[in-house]
Amino acid sequence: MAKFKVKDLKLAEQGKMKIEWAESRMPVLAALRAKYKKTKPFKGFKIAGCLHVTKETAVLIKTFIDAGAELSWSGCNPLSTQDDVAASLAKDGVSIFAWHGMNTKEFYWCIDRTLDFKPHLTLDDGADLIFTVHKKYTNLIPNIIGGTEETTTGVHRLRKMAEKGALKYPVFAVNDMITKWDFDNVYGTGQSSIDGILRATSVLIAGKNFVVAGYGHCGSGVANRAKGLGANVIITEVKPTSALKGTLEGHEVMKMDEAAKVGDIFITATGVKDVIVGRHFLSMKDGAIICNTGHYDCEINLVELEKIKKSKRTIRPNCEEYTLNNGKKIYILAQGRLVNLSAAEGHPSEVMDMSFANQFNAQLALVNMYKSGKKYSVDVHKLPDEMDQEIAGVKLATMGLKLDKLTKEQIMYNDDFSAGT
Ligand code: ADE
Repeated sequence: MAKFKVKDLKLAEQGKMKIEWAESRMPVLAALRAKYKKTKPFKGFKIAGCLHVTKETAVLIKTFIDAGAELSWSGCNPLSTQDDVAASLAKDGVSIFAWHGMNTKEFYWCIDRTLDFKPHLTLDDGADLIFTVHKKYTNLIPNIIGGTEETTTGVHRLRKMAEKGALKYPVFAVNDMITKWDFDNVYGTGQSSIDGILRATSVLIAGKNFVVAGYGHCGSGVANRAKGLGANVIITEVKPTSALKGTLEGHEVMKMDEAAKVGDIFITATGVKDVIVGRHFLSMKDGAIICNTGHYDCEINLVELEKIKKSKRTIRPNCEEYTLNNGKKIYILAQGRLVNLSAAEGHPSEVMDMSFANQFNAQLALVNMYKSGKKYSVDVHKLPDEMDQEIAGVKLATMGLKLDKLTKEQIMYNDDFSAGT
């Protein structure tokens, strides 16, 4: 049996059913599985993965295994692992090191274990695995063909590494694919973040002042879902174009110092630290609810909150009540970690289907390039646009939706720059 460390193997049966549920909603991965089951293009290749251990990730893992890969996996957030899913994977022989509620030391211990088997490829969500390789396991780098990265924050880290000459092997930015970026980040984050808030609090969203910090793809997804539920959405931003977009999409725009005074529910989706800090907590209304959906837990400054609190208790799962020195009570969800994955189950299977098809294709591109005897340059790459259209095409077909086709005349018109008024 493969090496693993999970919370409780007895949860495996429950996890198996959860994975089956996801599988039935992930037709693009099913198509990839069917396509590569016989040829097994990953045969002989070892992938180390560091990505949320959810039912959807389990479907991705099984797709890689069917395509011949050997895997070793850890979660990419201390609170996002679904223990039943991890147990099911371990029982099926996957080398997995993940459990819900681990501390930071255990988090990196798990990453270290996935590197014990000397991978040829890395797969990240947030870049902690690839960063660990570059910091602590440079001896593994000559053996590594390349890596892939799932999320905005991770891609940002990798681009900074590349800019500074610190990146030592090629990586694909899965996040930059349209079928990831325009769907997972918007509709996935939008729905799953609201799901997390509701599971942790069960409050009514309608009529609330719902403050969204950051109006990028993720923030706008959350804002528009909250608006759909009847909230009065307030945006805080640092980027003029994003703030402008927010206001034209019908939301109020103000500084966090002002929003802090009127918000009922706050969610951060910025990718930077210290978005909500001590002075904001002190000016909030009694009963304010605060959470984060950015990758790292640095957006809400909990260190400052600890300094201004009188007491604290867990009032509901994933909901911490802080009584402040000024007598008001405020509520922090999921310890300031990703609320959608900590208090709910992450994005729905239907969107992860496309994101993970891109992960699969990007890993396959690295393997195919290696087999051809050539190399990608050491940089952050993107798959060709046609691969996006292919994934979207399969998705549409499985939804029973049909497209028009350009006629020959329309194609000629498109190619003809002389055609005008
Ligand atoms: N990121 C966001 N939602 C996810 C999910 N359901 N599985 C894996 N990674 C995710």
